[in-house]
Amino acid sequence: MSASALAGTAGRGAGAPATPLLEASRIIKRFAGVTALNGAGLTLAAGEVLGLIGPNGSGKTTLVNCVSGVLPIDGGEIRLKGRAVTRASRVERARLGIARTFQNLKLFGELTVRDNVMVGRNASRTRGSDRDAVEALLADLHLTDLAREVVSALPYGHQRRVEIARALAGDPDVLLLDEPAAGLNDGETAELRGLLHRVRRERGCGIVLIDHDMNLVLGVSNRVQVLDEGRIIYEGAPQDAFKQPEVVDAYLGSA
Ligand SMILES: Nc1ncnc2c1ncn2[C@@H]1O[C@H](COP(=O)(O)OP(=O)(O)OP(=O)(O)O)[C@@H](O)[C@H]1O
Ligand SMILES: [Mg+2]
Repeated sequence: MSASALAGTAGRGAGAPATPLLEASRIIKRFAGVTALNGAGLTLAAGEVLGLIGPNGSGKTTLVNCVSGVLPIDGGEIRLKGRAVTRASRVERARLGIARTFQNLKLFGELTVRDNVMVGRNASRTRGSDRDAVEALLADLHLTDLAREVVSALPYGHQRRVEIARALAGDPDVLLLDEPAAGLNDGETAELRGLLHRVRRERGCGIVLIDHDMNLVLGVSNRVQVLDEGRIIYEGAPQDAFKQPEVVDAYLGSA
């Protein structure tokens, strides 16, 4: 790891370091013969976008699955607002404020846009159906005109937006986005970029952004981490990531 990368986490100034919003440390995750995560982790502050990049199979989705509770871990620790959630279920973590989207969309295809978002609201720590909040969110994500459409009938780019709306419906503190730009055209990606800025600024969410669109990740993230074979090989400023020979090698080695 480079000196500039280390400065990214060490430089919190004098006084007690603030408790990170989310902290996953030294995570080990094995699948049969494969060690998918070999000590990787992440820290995230409120209002921060952390870009998580790395070649195919480097462990990005697995890390998000471990943080959100989709997968149990074989070693390490996960803390949310200072509280250990390592053994909390996926549902408990959602209620505590962790929301996510999936690399392969997991929407309720036969339900309308509005009902998908309502499901997200009802599944969250915020109890009650709270229609006003759902309508406000639909408006915010430019989905009001599509609210009565059945999701499976919508173009893919719109479905991606519905998935983000559903994740935001529970007012999460942490939003984990696994390849939200996959399958989007240039216009939709530009719209997503604006949406991420707004979510961070207006809702104060911490966002973990995984994507293979480097323009998007390097342009939106405050900080990036590069994964390779289940380890973090770079952490620091987005613009410096591809100045590191290890990062270039990891990508070239996977080509
Ligand atoms: N359910 C599983 N069973 C077995 N092996 C798995 C499973 N999920 C992931 N792996 C393996 O773990 C490693 C990390 O996979 P992961 O999907 O986390 O990578 P990724 O960085 O998200 O890749 P991509 O950029 O292609 O989405 C890979 O070797 C993958 O084959
Ligand atoms: Mg993945």
